[in-house]
Amino acid sequence: MKDYNNKIVYLTGGSSGIGLATAKMLAQKGAHVAIFARRQQVLEEAIKEISACGSNADQKFYYDLLDVSIHEDVDKVLQKAVSEFGIPDVLINCAGRAKPDYFAEIPYMQFDETIKIDLYGAWNTCAFLVPLMKKRGGYIVNVSSICGFIGVFGYSDYSAAKFGVLGFSEALRSEVKPQGITVSVLCPPDTDTPGFVEENKTKPPETKAVEGTAGLMKPEEVARALIKGMGKGEFMIIPGGESKFTYVMKRLFPWLVDMVMDSQISTVQKKKAK
Ligand SMILES: NC(=O)c1ccc[n+]([C@@H]2O[C@H](COP(=O)([O-])OP(=O)(O)OC[C@H]3O[C@@H](n4cnc5c(N)ncnc54)[C@H](OP(=O)(O)O)[C@@H]3O)[C@@H](O)[C@H]2O)c1
Repeated sequence: MKDYNNKIVYLTGGSSGIGLATAKMLAQKGAHVAIFARRQQVLEEAIKEISACGSNADQKFYYDLLDVSIHEDVDKVLQKAVSEFGIPDVLINCAGRAKPDYFAEIPYMQFDETIKIDLYGAWNTCAFLVPLMKKRGGYIVNVSSICGFIGVFGYSDYSAAKFGVLGFSEALRSEVKPQGITVSVLCPPDTDTPGFVEENKTKPPETKAVEGTAGLMKPEEVARALIKGMGKGEFMIIPGGESKFTYVMKRLFPWLVDMVMDSQISTVQKKKAK
């Protein structure tokens, strides 16, 4: 995927953070951009910013309220979008959130909500749009995380969902390839977004220790890496050198990654015990 001019792009979670940065960059490249999220005012402000990035007068922009975790609503909202805006050439499932905490502190309701937003959300949009997209091909990106290939302390519900996104995308990739649809998974590291600020409010100290000294990426850097990865048709798009290194280490030496994380966690817990 290299030419976005005149292409129709749908982004769930396109009103904030990584989704918004990506939507703005694709608008600059001439795409018709549709964004979906739950908060009306945030959507309105975002669509103004996105349309201001447009590069030609013929570009169209669209937004609608959508909670990706509600299957029936996804069908209704996307049916309306397809009628009014067209079938997407590109679908980017960016809607998501994390609420890190100790496993013992995570109520069932939070687990249920996390899985429904972060995993079912991607399933729901794909279930509606793949049958339409396969008639002419396209591109789907599901947003996972580093927590989608490493189970990280404090993210038991979120890691479960984001590992699920990876497995779902891998299976979907091979099924829709013959229909001309490419599937990628974006696995961002810590990125400075409103969602990340929210995440930090509940993050256990052990989780902060595991994150260590790895810096924060900017949403624009993640968006740039995503667009570059889509240009190459990469399945796993992992922004940032340190995250790529972590991915390779986890595949080749999982015991070493566990050992390093366990030692970081134990240092924090010893300090807490004093
Ligand atoms: N920032 C990071 O460090 C980081 C790292 C790895 C992966 N990620 C992943 O990257 C994606 C974007 O995260 P971000 O940091 O950019 O977060 P963000 O700034 O909080 O943006 C999240 C977007 O998703 C929307 N959203 C959340 N729940 C939704 C729902 N149920 N239905 C529809 N839209 C929903 C939000 O709008 P509304 O709240 O108005 O619905 C917003 O537009 C997420 O999938 C996240 O898990 C982020």
